[in-house]
Amino acid sequence: MGRYAIIMAAGKGTRMKSSREDISKVSFPILGKPMVGYVLDALKGLNLDRIVTIVGFGGEMTKSIVEKDSEVVWQKEQKGTGHAVMMASDILSEEEGETIICCGDTPLLTGKTLSALLSSHETNHNDLTLMTAIFEDPHGYGRIVKKNGRVVKIVEQKDCSIEEDTIHEVNAGVYVFNNKELFKDLKRLTPNNAAGEYYLTDVISMFVKDGKKVDSFAVSDAKETMGVNDRYNLSKAEKIIRHRINKKWMLAGVSMDDPDTTYIGPDVKLSQDCVIRPNTMILGNSRLGKGNVVGPNSYLENVEVGENNVIEYSHITDSSIGNGNNLGPFLRVRQNCVIENNIHLGNFNELKNVTIKDDTWCMHLSYLGDADIGKNVNIGCGSIIANYDGVNKTHSSIGDNAFIGSGTILISPITVGESSFTGAGSVINKDVSSHDFAIARARQENKEGYADTLKEKALKKASK
Ligand code: UD1
Ligand code: CA
Repeated sequence: MGRYAIIMAAGKGTRMKSSREDISKVSFPILGKPMVGYVLDALKGLNLDRIVTIVGFGGEMTKSIVEKDSEVVWQKEQKGTGHAVMMASDILSEEEGETIICCGDTPLLTGKTLSALLSSHETNHNDLTLMTAIFEDPHGYGRIVKKNGRVVKIVEQKDCSIEEDTIHEVNAGVYVFNNKELFKDLKRLTPNNAAGEYYLTDVISMFVKDGKKVDSFAVSDAKETMGVNDRYNLSKAEKIIRHRINKKWMLAGVSMDDPDTTYIGPDVKLSQDCVIRPNTMILGNSRLGKGNVVGPNSYLENVEVGENNVIEYSHITDSSIGNGNNLGPFLRVRQNCVIENNIHLGNFNELKNVTIKDDTWCMHLSYLGDADIGKNVNIGCGSIIANYDGVNKTHSSIGDNAFIGSGTILISPITVGESSFTGAGSVINKDVSSHDFAIARARQENKEGYADTLKEKALKKASK
């Protein structure tokens, strides 16, 4: 007996009102992760034998998201949820066991709830268990029609009678089926309904009529079953997921000044005694060690952070940071930067593809690109590494203990040796050896009393 899952993710998502042909509804992101990724994560915890995702509209994008963790099947024309499941027939129809079916647009479902659904199906020896929820406003969902407490059928919104429209128990769109029986009955579906589609939900009444054992499983938290059909739903789902994640981290020892303006991605790892200040987003595969203070107003994506750093008003992506650094306010770091320990960076610096070793300072208004910078270096205000000649990007290095005077322009590729010194305002285009002083600017000339002469000249000109 095997256990399988099918995720239906081929629909266009007309209600998202997008003009793009390449984006499926289920690839819309929540905290940087596509919706369908949340569904896959919930299923992955169940130790299933196979997971199949049905892709169609915008299918290349959906495929690229799910193919690592599931088999992909195409539904070229989207003729309804029943038709979508039929597409998995070639791979699954002969399998002995049970199959969970869920939608790619229900990102709030948890593994815990899916696991409870599966246990209920197994302990009751059902042929079909369908998850239901009670909604105050059931509009848009399929309604559960019961007789003497037992499920009889599901009626879609478009096909509801006035009476059925008042039913508050809805189909959550998650089912566990006896696999072989499911694929047998799918062949009998017809598109006789208001939408002209093959409804998966029509299989339910077939099971009931044939005397198979059908039960409903009422979910304890109805919110989990919310389907994201439009961008308003998307924002509601985002808020719920965000608060779930924030709560988890706060209970694990992370402080958040204002959880309402704190956005932590689902795959981010935080550690004890981190403090996240308001208006901060930490996304992607970011990992933060203990005791970091991040924010206010900071954005981190795919950043590996050690311990005890202070990061304020900064934007940092695809980089790694060691321990005890002071970063920002107003620092931008991108593309494979490695910032080691006890370093001070910001205000108003941009760093790209730079490695910086311990105890270095660069406090104001610099651009540093494509370089290795040693230990205990001081980079003066307004210094620039000119790393681009219009065609090529070139690499430079600055040795330990070097002192780069304010306003130095280092024309890449260049090597500035350890313990060397560049004079303020220099344009350096020749390598500087260790312990040397390099100055490259016009020599100063002072003209005695000439300031007064200049002023007299100017006044005369004005009076003409
Ligand atoms: C569906 C259910 C409804 C339930 C609701 C729960 C049907 C007929 N209706 O309605 O009873 O209350 O979910 O959220 O099943 N899809 C495909 N191929 C298709 C059509 C849809 O893969 O041809 C996918 C979509 O990408 C989506 C899922 O199936 O992930 C559900 O489709 P959607 O159109 O959102 O169905 P609902 O109208 O919400
Ligand atoms: Ca839906």
